[in-house]
Amino acid sequence: KRAKKPAGAPDKALAKRITKVGVIGAGLMASQFALLFVRRLQVPVVITDLDQARVDKGLAYIRDEIGTLEQKGRISSDEANRLRALVTGTTDKADFADCDWVIEAVFEELGIKQDVFAEIEQHVSPEAVLATNTSSLSVEQIGAKLANPERLVGFHFFNPVAVMPLIEVVNAPKTDEATLSTAMVIAAKLRKNAVITRDTPGFVVNRVLAKVLGETMHAVDEGTPFEVVDEAVKPFGLPMGPFELLELVGLKVGAHVLDTHHAAFPERFFASDNLHRLAEHGKLLERDGKGNVTGYDKGAVKIV
Ligand code: 3HC
Repeated sequence: KRAKKPAGAPDKALAKRITKVGVIGAGLMASQFALLFVRRLQVPVVITDLDQARVDKGLAYIRDEIGTLEQKGRISSDEANRLRALVTGTTDKADFADCDWVIEAVFEELGIKQDVFAEIEQHVSPEAVLATNTSSLSVEQIGAKLANPERLVGFHFFNPVAVMPLIEVVNAPKTDEATLSTAMVIAAKLRKNAVITRDTPGFVVNRVLAKVLGETMHAVDEGTPFEVVDEAVKPFGLPMGPFELLELVGLKVGAHVLDTHHAAFPERFFASDNLHRLAEHGKLLERDGKGNVTGYDKGAVKIV
């Protein structure tokens, strides 16, 4: 049984000062929050990934988005240039040596995340705070290979990062107060609402999401067509239908979220083979040239 930790807000005075941010992963989520870090913290941000091509793709995304902010008049061109200069990419983890906040958004596989943190711990100072953007894995297990697991915290963003107002700060059993405090102060600087959650599968938001997506996929598994499910669910007031949302978060991520919940609570959550098949194909909805949904990938769906 987990030891009870004090609830309530951590002492802000314990928060560590952040002078450089390290981002491990240069994919969809990581690039989006790297941009937010540089914009709101105004400190150097270094991103890394498995190879230079991935790093370059992440950097290109960040630079494009800075350009869009400039075009929209949200930032001046001086500011845009300053932000661009603050973001760098590397494939050498030694460049993380002076980072005091390192956050990862690599593939959602426990072993990979454990190894990423064990490796980065060799490069950063003992004072650096470490964070994971995991969607639904256990933060405690992710930190299992760390020498100092008390400096690891969950810091869960939602897609699109620029727009979604929430961050789940996951208080793992070993997370210490200075780490939690640092995470809360950073979230406030990013101008997000932060909630502190327990380290339970799916935390809070993905529990709800896994229910909605699991039930809607299950209706499809049972033979109800996608467009009928979509039409039935949309009037609940969702900003987008469940299948568009699945495409936004990524079919593989969505399938992983369902699997994690099903593994943790088999009676309460569905996993969906159809979602895995669709994830392999890489697409779910079919669209016309203007982006309107015209149908879905029927070939990949098997009725159970
Ligand atoms: N990146 C950056 N900005 C984006 C964006 C993106 N991908 N998508 C939309 N935006 C911005 C637009 O630029 C626009 O900003 P502006 O007003 O400054 O120009 C603003 O958002 C509104 O966009 P639009 O008018 O084009 O579109 P909508 O009003 O239809 O809103 C939406 C788009 C915000 C994506 C809305 O459909 C929505 O809220 N969808 C649900 C998203 C959601 O539930 N996300 C959570 C997913 S779960 C998750 O991420 C957790 C993970 O662990 C699985």
